[in-house]
Amino acid sequence: MSKTAAQVQVDADENARPQLKIVIVGHVDHGKSTLVGRLLSDTHSLPEGKMEAIIASCKKRGMPFEWSFLMDALQTERDQGITIDTTQIWLKTASRDVVIIDAPGHKEFLKNMITGAAQADAALVLIDAKEGIREQSKRHGYLLHLLGVRQIAVLVNKMDMVGYDEGVFRAIEKEYSAYLNTVGVQPTCFIPISAREGDLIVNHSAAMPWYKGGSVTETLDRFEVAVPADDLPLRFPIQDVYKFDERRILAGRIESGTIRVGDTLIFSPSNTQATVASIESWPHGGVKEAHAGQSIGITLDNQIFVERGHVVSHLGDAPVITNYFKARIFWLGHKPLEMEKRYKIKLATCEIQAEIRSIEHVIDSDTLEHVKAERVERNNVAEVVFRTRGLVAVDDFNRNARLGRFVIQQDYDVAGGGIISLDGVFDQRAAQVAQQVKSKNIFDVDFGVTPEQRAMINGHLGGILWFTGLSGSGKSTIAKLLQKRLFDKGYNVFGLDGDNIRKGLNRDLGFSPNDRKENIRRVGEVAALFAQSGTIAICSFISPYRDDRRQVRAIAPDYFHNIYIKASVEACEKRDTKGLYKQAREGKIAEFTGVSAPYEEPLNPDQVVDTENTSIQECVEQLLRYVEHHLVDPVRNMATENGGDYAGTGI
Ligand code: ADX
Repeated sequence: MSKTAAQVQVDADENARPQLKIVIVGHVDHGKSTLVGRLLSDTHSLPEGKMEAIIASCKKRGMPFEWSFLMDALQTERDQGITIDTTQIWLKTASRDVVIIDAPGHKEFLKNMITGAAQADAALVLIDAKEGIREQSKRHGYLLHLLGVRQIAVLVNKMDMVGYDEGVFRAIEKEYSAYLNTVGVQPTCFIPISAREGDLIVNHSAAMPWYKGGSVTETLDRFEVAVPADDLPLRFPIQDVYKFDERRILAGRIESGTIRVGDTLIFSPSNTQATVASIESWPHGGVKEAHAGQSIGITLDNQIFVERGHVVSHLGDAPVITNYFKARIFWLGHKPLEMEKRYKIKLATCEIQAEIRSIEHVIDSDTLEHVKAERVERNNVAEVVFRTRGLVAVDDFNRNARLGRFVIQQDYDVAGGGIISLDGVFDQRAAQVAQQVKSKNIFDVDFGVTPEQRAMINGHLGGILWFTGLSGSGKSTIAKLLQKRLFDKGYNVFGLDGDNIRKGLNRDLGFSPNDRKENIRRVGEVAALFAQSGTIAICSFISPYRDDRRQVRAIAPDYFHNIYIKASVEACEKRDTKGLYKQAREGKIAEFTGVSAPYEEPLNPDQVVDTENTSIQECVEQLLRYVEHHLVDPVRNMATENGGDYAGTGI
């Protein structure tokens, strides 16, 4: 990987050797302490006299020397704060400084890697030659891949215990490569070693003449050192907004890309634009441009609303904005991760509440089988769908890891991490752009009553229950029964229905794609007003086009619930309650959905109600449960938590 000019400059300035960050992972007994001790000693990276002191103390106590004593001694020093750096161990190879970011005894490394606090350039995976591959060895391989570590050397340790037998080494190499390949990992190399005896740590081993590859330190010298991601699109998450006299300075760290004075920026998720007026960097003062890895402040030509968590990018190369996405997660929480529960997630500088909409499957790290599950237990990997409260700016992990990974919190602690897949996710920015306002000089008016206050009075949140489905699928029937049940509970509820609205507000519209689009847009706006007023608006519209439904979601993302009232064309045609299918078949109605016009099934509905295989009563019960969970429970929590969860979120 070539270095950027800026990076070379930094290196020259500080006269620094390149720094490689590594993690060493392996089953507990596979010899990690011994390896680290041996590496430190054989690369002469220990403080003067350290080894001698420990050997002398062993002698005094009549114990044979063990490498792990050295690590224990270093650990004690770190615990007592004698060694300044408490989390990292350094060693020097021929051409570089290597930092071990998961020093033995440093249990937080997994969390640090998941949070992105520490990013390893490479990993050494230890496997015990005698014991062979353990479930944990597999889990580690998979986890490293998940964390984005692409350079992996597998060290088959304790070769002395198996008589330096090539056969044993090759068998492990074959089995573990096969496993890694299935999870998409190409190991850089396999090295047979004995950490205790010092075989192939720095020098080559006379005991293993059959091995022609490099030693551990030679391999460390060959790994590529990561350079800041200058070539990726600009991602500048805002950490803070400071006010200095009349100026507002937006401060943060550039995660990727480059920013220049005069650049036109787009802010996400607010989707507003402004131009860079100045860049402040420390300690240099005003500069013309800044790069990935730098902490800077910028001022704008235009006072738009910006807050912590917003992401700055360039026009035309912005992140996706959405309120749902799929993610592959690794769960470390003490309590299992559960469907429909809410968690706080942290994505760059943005913190947001998110609900687990579905657990697609849990991945068994041993067999890699996909298992259906209602919950994700500790130390498991799973694919889940999140729905966030409000829009967030995200990237697909494979496109830009900086905005493609996030941390999940449980009870104020890091409980997991995940990487985002945007497969099948619609960029709601496009829908926002479509909602341009024609009139000029329009200002938002604050009516002085907050959504929280309305919710507390009503005992539920406002919301849009958007029923989509074919004509005759049961939308209106279920809407009517549900409305009655909710009304009887004392809830504020109102039904909007295609057949009614088309006689009034939308009497000028027909069934061409454009007319349907406008029909849905107007209804979406009306429904949003109802929801903002605190009402549960049940909207029954065929709304056959995905784009049109997305448009409604974009109008009021926090309120919108996409509910698919599902029945096949055959079933609806058989019912034919209004006799319309018959007429459509006879060619008497043009562009009839399901017959002569398309219906695009929802890809990620919030709830599916299958009226073909479920009784109407049960369908209504399902939706009652949905309403209780999504619109009523949060208000109960609000009451008990004194607003904690919802305060200031606008809903
Ligand atoms: S939408 O496609 O624009 O969402 P909407 O839900 O408002 O449709 O109206 C659908 C209702 O209009 C149907 O229930 C049916 O009674 C009536 N209708 C009349 N012509 C058509 C048609 N060509 N396609 C679908 N529904 C039609």
